[in-house]
Amino acid sequence: MLKLLEPTKENLQKMKAGLAELKVSPTPYDIGQTETLIKYMENDFDGYLEDWQQKRESQQPDGKVPSTTLFLFDDDKFIGFYNIRHYLNDFLKIRGGHIAYQIIPSERGKGYVKQGLKLVLNWCHNQLGLDEVMLSCNAENHASDRAMTSVMNEVGGHRDPDLKLDSHIERRVWIKTQNERE
Ligand SMILES: CC(C)(COP(=O)(O)OP(=O)(O)OC[C@H]1O[C@@H](n2cnc3c(N)ncnc32)[C@H](O)[C@@H]1OP(=O)(O)O)[C@@H](O)C(=O)NCCC(=O)NCCS
Repeated sequence: MLKLLEPTKENLQKMKAGLAELKVSPTPYDIGQTETLIKYMENDFDGYLEDWQQKRESQQPDGKVPSTTLFLFDDDKFIGFYNIRHYLNDFLKIRGGHIAYQIIPSERGKGYVKQGLKLVLNWCHNQLGLDEVMLSCNAENHASDRAMTSVMNEVGGHRDPDLKLDSHIERRVWIKTQNERE
């Protein structure tokens, strides 16, 4: 059964192999949390738990808004993680949005990010009181674009016009946190 978990020493232990996969197979689209996790995972679970809590509670010195990282497990198997920004600042409105995601390489292409995203939408509604959330990606990141578009089509939402940035086109969608079609 799929579930979203907060980090504990016990489940961090179960993520080691998945994070090792991410370390050896990076993509240009890997999210920032990946590097943080890999850094702490080598030997400092306590450091990670402290960092996780601190990022959740307050705005960061570099202006990043409070965020929560949640981990997707299928029963006992680590699948990936979601970084949820509690609100949007000017930067996130253009690129980044409320939710970023990362699935470990050996579990990609199995529909996991979409299933997990629906759990995250519920969490955003229940924990943050958000009725809709923004997601964005480089238009050339086809897996991410298709994932967010599929979930938007399934649960309701709309697409904002693409933005032409210096290096690429950024695609942006808004997704309802409650399924309109249920
Ligand atoms: C993007 C990512 C999260 C997708 O996760 P996933 O669990 O493999 O995605 P899913 O299996 O749920 O598939 C999502 C959609 O993408 C499609 N897809 C999957 N892999 C694809 C690929 N390599 N190329 C094109 N489309 C692909 C699927 O067919 C599906 O489309 P559909 O809904 O129209 O059927 C994963 O590839 C990943 O972690 N990439 C690296 C990090 C990243 O890009 N994060 C997003 C930053 S914006």
